[in-house]
Amino acid sequence: MSERRLRILLVGASGTLGRAVAAELAQRHEVIAAGRRSGSIQIDLTDVDSILRGLKQAGELDAVISAAGSVTFAPLADFKPAPYGESLHTLGIADKLLGQVNLALAARDHLRDGGSITLTTGILSEQPIVQGSSASLVNGAVEAFVRAAAVELPRGLRINVVSPTVLVEAMAAYAPFFRGFEPVTAARSALAFSRSVEGAQTGQVYRVF
Ligand SMILES: NC(=O)c1ccc[n+]([C@@H]2O[C@H](COP(=O)([O-])OP(=O)(O)OC[C@H]3O[C@@H](n4cnc5c(N)ncnc54)[C@H](OP(=O)(O)O)[C@@H]3O)[C@@H](O)[C@H]2O)c1
Repeated sequence: MSERRLRILLVGASGTLGRAVAAELAQRHEVIAAGRRSGSIQIDLTDVDSILRGLKQAGELDAVISAAGSVTFAPLADFKPAPYGESLHTLGIADKLLGQVNLALAARDHLRDGGSITLTTGILSEQPIVQGSSASLVNGAVEAFVRAAAVELPRGLRINVVSPTVLVEAMAAYAPFFRGFEPVTAARSALAFSRSVEGAQTGQVYRVF
């Protein structure tokens, strides 16, 4: 079977997860790296104009991937009732949640027919840890959005999300938070991005755990 060479924009390509996704997909496709400071295109998920500019700069695309997204890890006791902007939830909501949703909405209006959008969440949407409430909130919301958006996307566009457990490569920093969790390699997680981009499913949460 001859495969078509796709043009893929990968936000977060320089990260622990993103490097593995780039390595997997660049074997067969053109991967355009994006990040706030890294990559050939500058996109900040928290800045809608930079998302729109970045997509325009990237040109015609078959796939848009986010392997980025920040949240705040802190004890629940530190989270006080507060409005958006003053809440400790602000970073996660602005960056990993709304940032990825805005990227998906911009990609919807930009991708070639039949293109795909792939976002990133993580195991904390289903399996909580201490200090992980913001990550759980945001990951759950992104997964719910992806399921719903898949129903309405036009032009044969697809949308999926990859939810890895903690990565082997991140254990030096994260091990104390993830005792008893079996880490997976970033390379194994990258295969789920391959399934999303190169497969045919939509509305899926690809769990890598
Ligand atoms: N590491 C893990 O064990 C693990 C497990 C499960 C899920 N995840 C999820 O996977 C994603 C990536 O994690 P990671 O560990 O690979 O992170 P990382 O190593 O810190 O890399 C983050 C990447 O995203 C880019 N980035 C950061 N903030 C951005 C923003 N606002 N807009 C655009 N690009 C941004 C960074 O480049 P610039 O600095 O140039 O922007 C970098 O390329 C996150 O959503 C994380 O929650 C990670």
